[in-house]
Amino acid sequence: MHLIPYASQWIDQSDIDAVTGILRSPFLTQGPTVAAFEAALNDITGTSHSIAVSSGTAALHLACAALELGEGDVGIVSPVSFSATANCLRYCGAEVRFADVDPVTGLMDPQSLASIIGDVAKEARQGVVIPVSLAGRVAPLGEISKIARNHGFYIIEDAAQSLGAFGQDAQGRFESASCKYSDLATFSFHPVKHICAGEGGAVLTNEAKWADRVGLLRSHGIVRPWVGSDKDPINEPPWYYEQVELGWNYRMTDIQCALGLSQLKRQEFFYERRQALAERYRQHFKRSPFNQCFGMTPHHPGHAYHLFVIHFKDGYSRDDAHVFLKSHGVLTQVHHVPIYKHPYYVNRYGEQALPGAEAYFKNCLSIPLFPKMTFSEQDKVIAVIESYCKQKLNHARTAVSV
Ligand SMILES: Cc1ncc(COP(=O)(O)O)c(C=O)c1O
Repeated sequence: MHLIPYASQWIDQSDIDAVTGILRSPFLTQGPTVAAFEAALNDITGTSHSIAVSSGTAALHLACAALELGEGDVGIVSPVSFSATANCLRYCGAEVRFADVDPVTGLMDPQSLASIIGDVAKEARQGVVIPVSLAGRVAPLGEISKIARNHGFYIIEDAAQSLGAFGQDAQGRFESASCKYSDLATFSFHPVKHICAGEGGAVLTNEAKWADRVGLLRSHGIVRPWVGSDKDPINEPPWYYEQVELGWNYRMTDIQCALGLSQLKRQEFFYERRQALAERYRQHFKRSPFNQCFGMTPHHPGHAYHLFVIHFKDGYSRDDAHVFLKSHGVLTQVHHVPIYKHPYYVNRYGEQALPGAEAYFKNCLSIPLFPKMTFSEQDKVIAVIESYCKQKLNHARTAVSV
């Protein structure tokens, strides 16, 4: 049976040529393609600094480390996310608090943030808010940043899922990860994301001081103090390096950056494909029998559709649908188990159940959406979902008439 995944990369000959070009070149890592990829990320987001790193998780860790978060500090995060959004704080020794999300979009709810930030500010030496632009939809960053700034908190936008997405404010549109409303933003280039690099990530910022720290900590905290200077080459030789901080090896290789750069050239095309597929889903799903069984996250013009999420209505089981679809070759996934439910976080902070996060999580299902998916594959997904809905509706009717 042909299986249709919920997400997948699209590698073509130009990507293969880009990668093999690097394999034939002198630099597999720490070469010029890293800077070229970083410059391309600046172009697409409008930021002044990008630092390519080994994963989205490394990007979040470095963003927190650049802000010098540590013991005694607290980060407020969106619970409907991959656990890296919170883990980055724990890597630094900071504690995690969860603001609730909007039950329909899964995005951080500014009101919930406002209701907890005052108490968090009292206990925290320094604070940060980490909203997630979930599923390709930009979090309400303007409102979040106003609240965070009022309490002296930093802001990191976790944009792992939102390359190409945009939000809207009084001035018009602003790009996800543009750092208009955040100190730093982070991307992931895992194969299920908007562009892939095998593994990879980036930190973006408009502040040179954060960029310098991320760059330093990405590569062991090592500096070469005399490179490029006109110091005496005998007493202060150019080969000399020293470690001034405790950093990590979170570098992205030239091999990965070449793939990322090549993929970025098709990013607009990927975006258009996602839009076209999402629009086809929306047209079908607003009709019966689909709309009797589930709803969709409302459309927003800046939604980059990293995921297409449907929400089953009360009386229908998301898990039952997941199993049915899988048995017919359609693979789906749940994004995400609220982070506070993971045993690590339960052990640390106890049981929690935020109403918005619980409501979003209970019924959400990400169905296949990726640029390489053909319309005929999508028609199959739609047909299988239709047969699931019809079966459920018939079953409900039969149950009522008996
Ligand atoms: C919202 C979010 N943040 C962070 C990450 C971590 O990215 P990576 O897998 O590249 O480490 C992911 C990846 O799944 C993610 O979806």
